[in-house]
Amino acid sequence: MSNYHIKHLEEYFQVYRKSVRNPEAFWEEIAEEHFMWRKKWNSVLEYDFTKPEIKWFDGAQLNITENCIDRHLHIRGDKTAILFEPNSPDEEAQHITYRELHAKVCQFANVLKSQGIKKGDRVVIYLPMIPELAISILACARIGAVHSVVFAGFSAIALSTRINDCDAKMVITSDGSYRGAKTIDLKGIVDDALEDSPGVATVLVAKRINSDIQMKEGRDKWLLPLLDAESTECEPEIMDAEDPLFILYTSGSTGRPKGMLHTTGGYMVYTAYTFKNVFQYKEDDVYWCTADIGWITGHSYIVYGPLANGATTVMFEGVPSYPDFGRFWEVVQKHKVTQFYTAPTAIRALAKENLDFVTKYDLSSLKVLGTVGEPINEEAWHWYNDHVGDKKCPIVDTWWQTETGGILISPIPFATPTKPTYATLPMPGIQPALMDENGKEIFGNQVDGRLCIKFPWPSIARTIWGDHKRYKDTYFSAFQDMYFTGDGALRDEVGYYRITGRVDDVIIVSGHNLGTAPIEDAINEHPAVAESAIVGFPHDIKGNALYGYVILKETGESRDRENLKKEINQVITEHIGPIAKLDKIQFVPGLPKTRSGKIMRRILRKIASNDMGNLGDTSTLLNPEVVENIIQERL
Ligand code: WTA
Repeated sequence: MSNYHIKHLEEYFQVYRKSVRNPEAFWEEIAEEHFMWRKKWNSVLEYDFTKPEIKWFDGAQLNITENCIDRHLHIRGDKTAILFEPNSPDEEAQHITYRELHAKVCQFANVLKSQGIKKGDRVVIYLPMIPELAISILACARIGAVHSVVFAGFSAIALSTRINDCDAKMVITSDGSYRGAKTIDLKGIVDDALEDSPGVATVLVAKRINSDIQMKEGRDKWLLPLLDAESTECEPEIMDAEDPLFILYTSGSTGRPKGMLHTTGGYMVYTAYTFKNVFQYKEDDVYWCTADIGWITGHSYIVYGPLANGATTVMFEGVPSYPDFGRFWEVVQKHKVTQFYTAPTAIRALAKENLDFVTKYDLSSLKVLGTVGEPINEEAWHWYNDHVGDKKCPIVDTWWQTETGGILISPIPFATPTKPTYATLPMPGIQPALMDENGKEIFGNQVDGRLCIKFPWPSIARTIWGDHKRYKDTYFSAFQDMYFTGDGALRDEVGYYRITGRVDDVIIVSGHNLGTAPIEDAINEHPAVAESAIVGFPHDIKGNALYGYVILKETGESRDRENLKKEINQVITEHIGPIAKLDKIQFVPGLPKTRSGKIMRRILRKIASNDMGNLGDTSTLLNPEVVENIIQERL
């Protein structure tokens, strides 16, 4: 029996039991047999959730890029590592072999060094989905620099906040990006961001759209000539297992984004292990995850997990609707994709279009389908199963988070029977618990509660960069001696989990986590706005959309409402990015508040969702009269 590769249900249960009975022995065996270490660990796990402190493979030394690249060279040097599919179908795909990837990563790593980047320095990467994105991540890891990728749809203000939070010395970007029929001036956004980020000494600029951009003397440098001047060999920096690998920002319920810090050894072991099992990856498969590397899904399941397994991983620059709604399926046919991993929002958007966009392509290469990022509704699940998978491909509904580093709950294809809308069973080593509001664990089946995890797994984030207290308060304080996920879940009669959604003030829109507080902070910057509250409401394609309740200052009362709405969305776009725009904006005379002054979002959520039957007792509010008014003027 192999612990590393689970192939049927009975094996899953055996492996799972073993992983829970003795987690250290379980992960030690996997780490020992499947990875390359420069030095073995002193202890497999040390942890204390009250501090919280978590260390996996402490004392071990390694470099993750040796595991993702070098060790494959003699067995699969000529195999495609990264298959780059450009935005336009007229541009040829690029097959970057493991050997070529090695050379490119080494050259890039040498450039970083020549520009003064050292182990432990933070480098912010703000790039579109082009090979340089994966290569620059790996180049940072090669020399022990800490990468922090910022999704290239974030605004200049959001970018600058992140650069300053992690105190980055360098930004890597491109002259621009393609997005369907549009181009985006990424370098211009970086220039704006850097007005407020004086700590950045160097900006490396990749050429992608050949636009005419401003290069700031002494700061901005074209990447290509620097790469050409460097050798294709670069000795990997030897890292401790618990050395930082990357910071990735995620939204929280309060204002500032949280820089989740992931470390090296445990992250590598867990992402590789889950990639192998959740996608049942085999040597000649072509695996495609459509996420952007700016999110955790791309980090763990486009770059590190697949490459650690010597896989061929597709990187797609474009969008599902360009040049038409058949693009995903055209790419699946063209590259004979075997595993396809996407978000429910994309499935819902494509399911609305004519079925011909799917049926005209040959999708028979597909073996496993996956979803991630938000709950998948039953209708979308069936459409995916029937029309993309031809009812032959198991769907892995994978539940996890930026904080968890890797997939925690998911079916294992061909082992776990799937059930629409259920993430099903925990991965080996994962011990979920459902908790009630009083902090008691709810045992048994057919129950629901707040989802926690009772025991550490190797890829759990170790802290929030620069704010360990917030890490403790957010994840380890709600329930004693457990990691709290912020999600609600139910457990059905056979013990399968279904994630029901966030129980905090994070709203998932089109699979993107958005905190209400940062959006409200942005809106309140508008000179005519006195106060605002944001809630989510159900949306056909996005899953949730945003509904804003806005109180105007007296000076705003006379203004044209439609113009104000546009301006409010403009302010949000400037502070966060277009992904956080509001679908509906209602101007209100007041917001329902408790006597202690807290906004009653529960009531606002119900009104936005047109669910006014059960608003609960509003008489204890500070201002019960506003509720009636808000209901009457509801959009
Ligand atoms: C939600 C994405 C239901 C959940 C990997 C979680 C899901 C948040 C699923 C994390 C799923 C993710 N079913 N909900 N399969 N996967 N979520 O940090 O609310 O971008 O807490 O990580 O997405 O989003 P994040």
